[in-house]
Amino acid sequence: MRKIVILISGRGSNMRAIVQAAKEQQWPAEIVAVISNKADASGLEYAASMGIATVVVASRDFTSREAFDAVLQQEIDRFAPDLVVLAGFMRILTTPFVTHYSGRMLNIHPSLLPSFTGLATHRQALTAGVRIHGTTVHFVTPELDHGPIIAQAAVPVLPGDTEQSLAERVLVQEHVIYPKAVRWFVEGKLTLEGDLVHIGAESTESAGIACVG
Ligand code: GAR
Repeated sequence: MRKIVILISGRGSNMRAIVQAAKEQQWPAEIVAVISNKADASGLEYAASMGIATVVVASRDFTSREAFDAVLQQEIDRFAPDLVVLAGFMRILTTPFVTHYSGRMLNIHPSLLPSFTGLATHRQALTAGVRIHGTTVHFVTPELDHGPIIAQAAVPVLPGDTEQSLAERVLVQEHVIYPKAVRWFVEGKLTLEGDLVHIGAESTESAGIACVG
């Protein structure tokens, strides 16, 4: 069984999608802990209700990123995970931390990378006037929102869209591609070649989803 630790900062709907998929599809993996940098992250309740260990490392208690990341790393490594999954974990991570989990830490970002890195991605998309927006699952590397891409899903930007309506449309697809990508990882289907990700030939599922109309 592969061990997965999931990091959240808030409601944790992606974490929930992954926990549910792992259970329903009987992955060869166990979500061993959900860790939050915020004590009031509502996703913690769901994780606890599923019998998953929960940990809070409150980022507000730390004065430097280095100190926070060092403690976070200790807490994660207590669970000896094969994979660390960032699911709405709203922290910029230090290079030593990211390097420690090189090749075994994934993130989901609410845009079609390499467009719209950073925050307020739906506002960025509306401001740019793009007609297609979406979400990306990628390996985490030291450069923010730039790691090798595993899966993407595209959604249309519709007339009258607000940040919220667009975010909701994208979130539906996040819940599809993130469990899929994590499953590929735990099944050993992902290989990294430089900046490119290969998905095992035996996988018949597409790593790109387009929802048109
Ligand atoms: C998701 O939309 C995720 O893509 C985004 O935060 C949201 C978390 O929702 N992540 C980032 O913006 C990371 N830079 P959730 O807590 O319901 O999964």
